[in-house]
Amino acid sequence: MRTPFVAGNWKMNKTVAEARALVSEMTPALRAVKGVEKVLCPPFMALVPVAALLQGTDIGLGAQDLFWEAKGAFTGQVSPGMVAEFCQYAIIGHSERRAYFGETDETVNKKIVAAFSAGLTPIVCIGETLSEYESGRTAEVVSRQIRAGLKALPVNLAPKLVVAYEPVWAIGTGRASTAVDANVVIRDHIRKPLAEMFGVETAQSIRILYGGSVTAANAAEFFGQTDIDGALVGGASLKLDDFVRITQAAVK
Ligand code: PGA
Repeated sequence: MRTPFVAGNWKMNKTVAEARALVSEMTPALRAVKGVEKVLCPPFMALVPVAALLQGTDIGLGAQDLFWEAKGAFTGQVSPGMVAEFCQYAIIGHSERRAYFGETDETVNKKIVAAFSAGLTPIVCIGETLSEYESGRTAEVVSRQIRAGLKALPVNLAPKLVVAYEPVWAIGTGRASTAVDANVVIRDHIRKPLAEMFGVETAQSIRILYGGSVTAANAAEFFGQTDIDGALVGGASLKLDDFVRITQAAVK
């Protein structure tokens, strides 16, 4: 039985003051939702103050990225150890990082290994672009991202992974995948390669989320699918009522 998982990716939104205000408002309602792993991923600047607000709650904190080196001359980067001082999770390989900041399956792989070494749970994002989708290459792309991104990952770490399937054409567009289509991709082209890499039992225990225009109105449909264990929520995670309703919809 996989515990449902809902994470809010705030992307580059909210100053520290704004983040504190939203988290303070959101926390009581989110704490009331039981049986769901809930995670907020504000921008780096807000991680420390938000960590203080979340202390003693069952709400987790995640960074939106990290660098794989432990320390040194890497201007502008944030190390896994720095993230782990305040967070339990890190989003890795988000499509916006792949599209605008040169992330590849190889850098994603290094970051996953580094995140685990620091004791963090990586939330690994994969998904096909619009042109890949339109040319019928979804299966090939997501299974390649899984195999290359998780290459050489020790089998004992695999059950701790969280994977987010986010079709790039569905992110921030208001055009979500259908729940049935997303479930087929996750079951046949993500969980299946995971089973080939780590064994059927381990693959069955890995949480796989859907992301891309998830709203309070469509969340339940995704969560009702056999292989969708939660959501990575962008835009709607910035709205108090919407995000709380999405986490409520994830309760089994
Ligand atoms: P969206 O973003 O919910 O705004 O589509 C999802 C994501 O990028 O994680």
